[in-house]
Amino acid sequence: MTSELFAETAVVPILVIDDAEDAVKLAETLMYAGFKVIEITLRTPAALKAIEAVAKTIPDVSLGAGSIRSPRQLEQALEAGAKFCVSPGFSESIITEAKLLEASLIPGAATAAEIMQLYEQGYDFVKFFPAELSGGVAMLKAFSAPLPEVRFFPTGGINSDLVSHYLDLPSVVCVGGSWFVPPKKIKQRDFDWIHRESSEIMARLNG
Ligand code: 3PG
Repeated sequence: MTSELFAETAVVPILVIDDAEDAVKLAETLMYAGFKVIEITLRTPAALKAIEAVAKTIPDVSLGAGSIRSPRQLEQALEAGAKFCVSPGFSESIITEAKLLEASLIPGAATAAEIMQLYEQGYDFVKFFPAELSGGVAMLKAFSAPLPEVRFFPTGGINSDLVSHYLDLPSVVCVGGSWFVPPKKIKQRDFDWIHRESSEIMARLNG
């Protein structure tokens, strides 16, 4: 089950990487702070190279590919070494490809109807996206009564003030976000800042 990859993880850093050369250093910084699961989004031309570099250099990290929008991207992400794939939504062709390739896919949903469609397709672990704009914690609470079988990976607009409210919900396996790894800081190669912020979050989660 895909959610097992996230068993020991409360927060997943969601990365936008412009230069594949930065990927390993960034992943090492996050792992050093205690993050075991990392998602690199396919939003830049460098993303697949970044996934490949991290998968080769740090095989212990549970590395995922995010922002999957086509069956081809799913295939490329797996070839590059991603252990799981995340999509902001879902389509018939992506689901068909994921089943064919036996990929660990976390499809995205924001409404009860979408969650039900995914559950019918065998997905009981879904990305809730965009979490804050879709009703956030209150919406997830509302889902839990009529949709008790489904577990969530909320992302989108979550920050350090909100994270614990999501993690308090029994239906939430872990949350994702970029607030402690903003694309601007990655671009600036400000790994010290990223290390400080990510260590602080980890300390708060463990404390
Ligand atoms: C995602 O892909 O889930 C989002 O980009 C993460 O959301 P955030 O950047 O608002 O944290």
